[in-house]
Amino acid sequence: MSNIRIALVGIGKIARDQHVPAIAKVDGVELVAACSRHAGLDGVRSFSDFGEMLRAVPEIDAVSLCTPPTARLSYAIETLEAGKHLVLEKPPAATISELAPVITLAEKKGLSLFTTWHSRFGDGVAPARDWLADAAIRSARIHWHEDVRRWHPGQDWIWEPGGLGVFDPGINALSILTAILPQPVFLTRSELSVPANRATPIAARLGLTDRAGTPIEAEMDWRPTDRDRWDIVVEADKGRLVLSDGGGALTIDGQTVVGGHDNEYPNIYRRFAELVREGRSDIDLTPLTLVADAFMLGRHESVEAFN
Ligand SMILES: NC(=O)c1ccc[n+]([C@@H]2O[C@H](COP(=O)([O-])OP(=O)(O)OC[C@H]3O[C@@H](n4cnc5c(N)ncnc54)[C@H](OP(=O)(O)O)[C@@H]3O)[C@@H](O)[C@H]2O)c1
Repeated sequence: MSNIRIALVGIGKIARDQHVPAIAKVDGVELVAACSRHAGLDGVRSFSDFGEMLRAVPEIDAVSLCTPPTARLSYAIETLEAGKHLVLEKPPAATISELAPVITLAEKKGLSLFTTWHSRFGDGVAPARDWLADAAIRSARIHWHEDVRRWHPGQDWIWEPGGLGVFDPGINALSILTAILPQPVFLTRSELSVPANRATPIAARLGLTDRAGTPIEAEMDWRPTDRDRWDIVVEADKGRLVLSDGGGALTIDGQTVVGGHDNEYPNIYRRFAELVREGRSDIDLTPLTLVADAFMLGRHESVEAFN
């Protein structure tokens, strides 16, 4: 079968750092065009207008959207209307309701839609899920602490409505949690610390549980820290599981199971190629639903302005 010819849209940090090298690495996919209002990619046909790109490069089979979530909907609809498969960076949209027409259109057109959750492709995640499958979970705790100035320099959209604030990274933790726990979880409590001059939280403390009443706590924080930390700890009847490095490394009762390599994005494109070949979609809105619930249940505390 010939390569799936991909156009990347929204050429910013993640498109350059991860999507371009991952597409180059994976058999069966190929980068044929790029679209961004103010940027292009060397050696790739680049456009500032999306419609012009679709007209000029009709051989595009699929579009991968790497814009901020608030700038996805019209591109997503145009992509599917044009008969192309669609990959959505996380989070798949700025709201849950705007995904309904996208999903309906992909189904109607028989096109593959992939709502990616890159952290689920960390090397430790699948073994963690398998180990927990028959476990009785006693508790779980998420620690997601990174310095926003280090990881998101100059990104104003994260502070605007729809930009999610600290949930931009925090949703990755929720994507892992919902992939590894054997039962569905739901929100019970949400405390959001919002800088006085911004629209989105700089920190969040969440309580979650499942049908069995398992206590699950999540702390997400973007304020300066001695060390970045992206850990999930699960206490179970079988032992203590620690996923660290954002899902890349796994220890069980202190023993290393997976050492941690960064294979997330190549694995995303391998999975996408598989979906297209099998004529299927992979759509999961659970992490975004939990974040929406955190905003719905949220008690807002105003904290120091962020400049
Ligand atoms: N940064 C990371 O480490 C990371 C990791 C995993 C996933 N992600 C996800 O990837 C997506 C993009 O993140 P990013 O870090 O790559 O952001 P970014 O560096 O700001 O890049 C996004 C690009 O999208 C384009 N864009 C189109 N419409 C826009 C709008 N209305 N506002 C702002 N930019 C717009 C901009 O390029 P033009 O101005 O040229 O159009 C911008 O450079 C987000 O959903 C994020 O959660 C990011």
